[in-house]
Amino acid sequence: MCGIIGYIGNKNVSEVLFHGLYSLEYRGYDSAGMAISDGKDLKITKCVGRVSNLEDKYKKDNNKGFFGIAHTRWATNGGASLENAHPHSVGKVTLVHNGIIENADNIKLSLIDKGYSFSSETDSEVIAAFLDNELKNNNILNSIQVMRKELKGSYALGIIIEGEECIYAVRKDSPLLIGVNRNEFFLASDIAAILKYTNKYFLLDEGETAVLERNDYKVYRDEKIIHKDIITTDSKSQSLDKFDYEHFMLKEIMEEPIVLKNLIDSYKNGDNIKYYDISNYEEVHIVACGSAMYAGLIGQALIEEEANIKVNVYAASEYRYKKKIFNLKTLVILVSQSGETADTIAAMREVKEMNIPTLGIINNPNSTMARECDYVILINAGVEVAVATTKAYINQVCVLALIAYTTSLKKGLSNDVSISEFESIPNLLHDVLNNTFIYEEIAKDLYEHNNCFFIGRGIDYAICMEGSLKLKEVSYIHSEAYQAGELKHGTISLIEKGIPVIAVMSDRFLKDKTLSNLKETLARGAYGIVITTSELDDFKDFRKVTLPSVNSFCQSLLIVPTLQLISYYVSLYRGCDIDKPKNLAKSVTVE
Ligand code: F6R
Repeated sequence: MCGIIGYIGNKNVSEVLFHGLYSLEYRGYDSAGMAISDGKDLKITKCVGRVSNLEDKYKKDNNKGFFGIAHTRWATNGGASLENAHPHSVGKVTLVHNGIIENADNIKLSLIDKGYSFSSETDSEVIAAFLDNELKNNNILNSIQVMRKELKGSYALGIIIEGEECIYAVRKDSPLLIGVNRNEFFLASDIAAILKYTNKYFLLDEGETAVLERNDYKVYRDEKIIHKDIITTDSKSQSLDKFDYEHFMLKEIMEEPIVLKNLIDSYKNGDNIKYYDISNYEEVHIVACGSAMYAGLIGQALIEEEANIKVNVYAASEYRYKKKIFNLKTLVILVSQSGETADTIAAMREVKEMNIPTLGIINNPNSTMARECDYVILINAGVEVAVATTKAYINQVCVLALIAYTTSLKKGLSNDVSISEFESIPNLLHDVLNNTFIYEEIAKDLYEHNNCFFIGRGIDYAICMEGSLKLKEVSYIHSEAYQAGELKHGTISLIEKGIPVIAVMSDRFLKDKTLSNLKETLARGAYGIVITTSELDDFKDFRKVTLPSVNSFCQSLLIVPTLQLISYYVSLYRGCDIDKPKNLAKSVTVE
């Protein structure tokens, strides 16, 4: 969370920084700020709320400088206030920070003893004071080394020192890359922030300090200058434009047929095909957070049912601290769009320490997890801008379905499904998505309610988990996903007149069971909505979505997008900030 950007060069500094901040705003939007310097004067502008507020507040004459740092914040230590907004300045040090310092309170107390006072509640101001104090006896490179030893937690920092004409960059467990161009250099949390200017960059590794000067840059490790290989990315082609869509969420849902097609084509071309066969393992742990974990629940249903391998799904935030019991033939699959989610990274590192093989299913090819997992399948969904994941989730599910499929074939278990059935999904999905009328009608049924239920059994329950999360995160309607049979063990007391209950019924063996549970809620006044397939649709008198019936590996790839669209329209009718729901951030890089 939090996005940081820095620039040194001959361009208009504020323009570069504002452009970067806008593309990093998905990482947090509680406050924003920037500092621009000419080596003598340093001007800081901050605001509460969005980057656009900062732009309104920014005075053009602040731009007398050739370097600067900027920040968009997702609040951790201290609320969204002007005092807590970055950059933070203490003595000679001004910095922007992404991450969280776990021992900041103790360090702060010892700095107060040394005469420092603090105007914010942030851990970031503590880092600035810490460095300022070290600078009294040390040069900056040594001060950073001391800081590395003392600080516990995660940080990506852009640092300006009074009187110096350069930017220092360091990181630990938070992403940071350095962009390079002729006579200009950038630092950024994400390549998207600088792609307009350069597609050449390198990733800063832990223990390294980059010094960005006007016409040159250096990278130090243990006070020695080291060489870094420059990476050229072709992601310039990945547009961050909304085109004619009103919101990125809608655009990204509509891109699902394309990203699915690309993924299935690359599978057919044999890219990383060996990682799709997990028949050598006896047990799988799928570890992830949020929607990525719910993709894992679909993976669990398919891998167990079709490939006969035992699968457990864990929230990474729990898994990292629990006792892990591994079979000699256990594979741990980590699922992450960003590849930077702090809990998932921590879980991955724990597992690697124990010499258990890790397979990452990841979207961002430059991420920490893409670099550190033993094996990686890239889902290639392209940049996802809306905070709520849609197209990346769909490709995560598709990879897991292909793993189940490949493994079941290898084990001689499912001979009746051919890859051409996967290939037919993008076209079917295209038609499903274009049938927007029905999703808008259902959204009209839902948008004035404050509570909603999703019910399903088996894989349909896994689908409900994602449908329910999507609805609550973008529309702020309280929603619960329930295993249909569990409702009457307590929760049915919440059913009252008019409450919407969305029943997902795509599993032919469980459909009648779920229908009985839906009827139990109708008998208590609920309003039933059915999501089903053409093969199972004998539902009368229900508002319903009927989807093409396909094989069990692929069915969820047609169902979840409809739930995404319903959530989108509900959010639209409620006037919510669809692409940036309140309190959220795209990439959760703190624990
Ligand atoms: C919900 C959503 C989140 C993410 C979760 C994991 O729409 O986007 O629940 O799925 O924060 O993020 P990644 O996949 O980047 O590890």
